[in-house]
Order: sequence, then C-alpha cells, then structure tokens
Amino acid sequence: MDLGMSGKVALVTGGSIGIGKGIARSLGREGCKVAIVARDAARLQAAAEEIQGDTGSEIVAFPGDLMHKADADRVVAQTAAHFGRIDILVNNAGAAPGGVIETLDEDDWELAMGLKFMGYVWVTRATLPHMKAQERGRVVNLIGNDGVKHSYWEIAPGAANAAGQNLTIALAGQYGKHNISFCAVNPGPVRTERWAGLVRAMSRDMNISLEEADTLAPRSIPLGRIAEVDEVADLVTYLASDRAHFVNGTMIEIDGGQQKPLMDMSRDRR
Ligand SMILES: NC(=O)c1ccc[n+]([C@@H]2O[C@H](COP(=O)([O-])OP(=O)(O)OC[C@H]3O[C@@H](n4cnc5c(N)ncnc54)[C@H](OP(=O)(O)O)[C@@H]3O)[C@@H](O)[C@H]2O)c1
Repeated sequence: MDLGMSGKVALVTGGSIGIGKGIARSLGREGCKVAIVARDAARLQAAAEEIQGDTGSEIVAFPGDLMHKADADRVVAQTAAHFGRIDILVNNAGAAPGGVIETLDEDDWELAMGLKFMGYVWVTRATLPHMKAQERGRVVNLIGNDGVKHSYWEIAPGAANAAGQNLTIALAGQYGKHNISFCAVNPGPVRTERWAGLVRAMSRDMNISLEEADTLAPRSIPLGRIAEVDEVADLVTYLASDRAHFVNGTMIEIDGGQQKPLMDMSRDRR
C-alpha cells in the first residue's frame, strides 16, 4: 500500500530513543521530513543523523524540555519555520513512572501529569494554529493501555493516560471543522531501552524476584510476548497518513490483548 506520505512534514516528540525514534525512522522511510525533539541535544542530533542516513529523508533535531511551555512553543515554531508547515504531530515524549501510591513521590506525579499529559497539551496547542491555517492536519498521541486497563502499580501512567485519551477524543470533536483529525495509540509493554528499568521497579515494588517480574507482562498477554518498537512505529505511521485521516476521535490498542488483572496475581501483599 502506498501511504502517499512523501514530502509531508512531521513533528515527533521524544524522537531520540525508543518508540519515538522508531516512529521518526518509519516516517522517514515513507518520505516524510521529520523534526524530532528531546532534552539531550547530543543524543538527539546523533539520532537525526542516523535516521537521515538510513532513510534519505531530511531529519532535524530541535532540543527542548517539554515540561516547559516555552520550549514547546519554541520547537513547534522552529519546525514550522524550517519546513514551512506541519502536517503531522506525534506526541510521544515522556513516560510516567510505575509504582504504588505509597511510594510514588511528587517528582513521579510531576513526570506523569506535567510531562506525559501537559507536555502533550502544550505541543498540541502550539501546533494547532499552523494546522488550522493549512486547513488540514493529523495528530497521533502515543498514550498507553494503562489509561483503559487499570493496574494499581500503574496509577501514575493510568491517570496521565486517561487524561490524554480524553484530550484526544475531545479535541477531535472541536477541530474536525478545520479538517484536523486526532487519534490515540495505546501500547502495552514495548521492548525499549526503558524496559529493563521497569522490570527492576516492578520487582522492588511488588516484592518479587527480577525473574518473576520479567515474566509478569508476557504472562498477562495472550500472545505471550511484549511488543517490538517497529510494530508500534508502523501502526503510528499508517495512522499518520492520509489513508487513515478518517480514523478520528478514537483509540487503538496495540498490546497483544493484555489482561491487566493477571499482572496483579503476583505474590505482592501490599
Ligand atoms: N515502552 C513502553 O512499554 C510503553 C508502553 C506504553 C506506552 N508507552 C508510551 O510511548 C511513549 C514512548 O515510550 P518509550 O518507552 O519509547 O520512552 P523512552 O524510551 O523513555 O523515550 C522517551 C523519549 O522522550 C524524551 N523525553 C523525556 N523527557 C522529556 C522532556 N521533559 N522533554 C522532551 N523530551 C523528553 C527522551 O529523550 P531525553 O531524555 O533526551 O529528553 C526520549 O527521546 C511514551 O509516551 C510512553 O508513555 C510506552
């Protein structure tokens, strides 16, 4: 299937590693010009050069901390100034920490709500005027299945994700008249650089061994494994294309049919 994305301009937040880097690469392969954003400027620049070398598409790095509205405004303005337009926004930067209510602290909740939710709000808010002026745009929000499949160990991601999902659907109702469509992608566990750290935290908080923690997620997924980055990136790329423009105000889970209650069958007694 030809996705017809050649020459489209995409802004991908959190594009230096993990799922965001996979999305930037996948969009680049389809011929999109891509701006990527993250805090670590050297790692971001290296990712842009690597993806540009692999795909032949123009990939530019705009460092910024999306906890701060001023940075969100600046990177959106830089993208629009550099490429002349923004066709696709993929909000992806940041992830809320796992943990139980009695151990999550202010910083954890700030990451959840201040970055994973408000970061999406600020970048979207800054991008919408450009899309309105173009009378077309596509926003794909990387959220997470914790927003719809509850787990007591994932209350911070759950809260941020539920807020992001609500935002996605609500904005679809407002901006359809400008031909701007929105959808959310809700992954379950994905094999990124962060995965080993999450397994260590689960082991600590649930009083179980590392080995047992490592089996919890695959055991909770009927297909018996976690997702690979490319599977998520390819779904996002299709959704970002004009072919999927009519998939609006809705969410798609990519989690192998994960059954979260299974994760709670550990020996944790907290
Ligand atoms: N991995 C999973 O299992 C999984 C499951 C469900 C949903 N998701 C969602 O998918 C998205 C990507 O996850 P991931 O695992 O690929 O994350 P990751 O590996 O932790 O990558 C996060 C990216 O965001 C950037 N970032 C972090 N804080 C930032 C800030 N304050 N301002 C700007 N950029 C920032 C990071 O670069 P810097 O550190 O240099 O800023 C990096 O590029 C997240 O929204 C996550 O919630 C992931």
